[in-house]
Amino acid sequence: MKINHRLKVLGDLVPDNSTCLDIGCDHAFLDIYLEQSNRGIKAIASDIKEGPLEQAKQNIRREKLEGKIEVRLGNGLDTYTKDINTIIISGMGGRNIIGIFKNNMKYLKNIETIILSPNNYQIDVKKFLCKNGFYIDDEEFVKDKKFIYQIIIFKKGKKSYTKRQYFFGPIFLIKKGELFKEYYERECKTREIMLEFLPKRFYLRRKKIQKEITEIKNELKD
Ligand SMILES: C[S@@+](CC[C@H](N)C(=O)[O-])C[C@H]1O[C@@H](n2cnc3c(N)ncnc32)[C@H](O)[C@@H]1O
Repeated sequence: MKINHRLKVLGDLVPDNSTCLDIGCDHAFLDIYLEQSNRGIKAIASDIKEGPLEQAKQNIRREKLEGKIEVRLGNGLDTYTKDINTIIISGMGGRNIIGIFKNNMKYLKNIETIILSPNNYQIDVKKFLCKNGFYIDDEEFVKDKKFIYQIIIFKKGKKSYTKRQYFFGPIFLIKKGELFKEYYERECKTREIMLEFLPKRFYLRRKKIQKEITEIKNELKD
């Protein structure tokens, strides 16, 4: 089965021999890829909506993986069971992701690895999980078509981070590279456009955006 570049990169970051709950699996392409990668990964595909799960079941059937990939209907971590040690959530908004964890904080103590690719509010997601028993173990950018996505891997444990590390990502700051540059150049441009349209009376908001532009430009200098 053909998988897009974004999901392939994410799938390759899943630890071997893990039991994963893919929350918001939609088509289950990721779960099929994980199962077919022969790395001892057990993937459980879960979604809040019946429509996507039907599609997931059809795809799983087509790949003859019934009985290998379990499919569960439910909201967020409601589909969690004790055998699961890895959570994957990709392609959802950051606030939705935080809500999913907040609804079932009790399960976080059993989880070893959380792999997230939030569409937005990445800083809030990082702060939330790092205040609740996880640290950032790895970060990757992936470019698929014209979009650049962040993938963040959290592991059970504690580390503290500066504001700069939360903003840019502690591992991204070490790795940097071409996609880091391109991603933050775009972030800078977005903020410059926001400043053009944001009325002067929003003084504090404008000041914050201006400060972020300066910080991004400084970071891109080296
Ligand atoms: C844009 S798709 C992402 C699909 C796939 N994870 C990916 O990265 O390509 C988002 C999926 O998340 C599901 N979803 C949204 N909120 C959810 C929740 N609270 N619990 C489970 N699934 C949810 C939606 O039904 C949808 O199928």
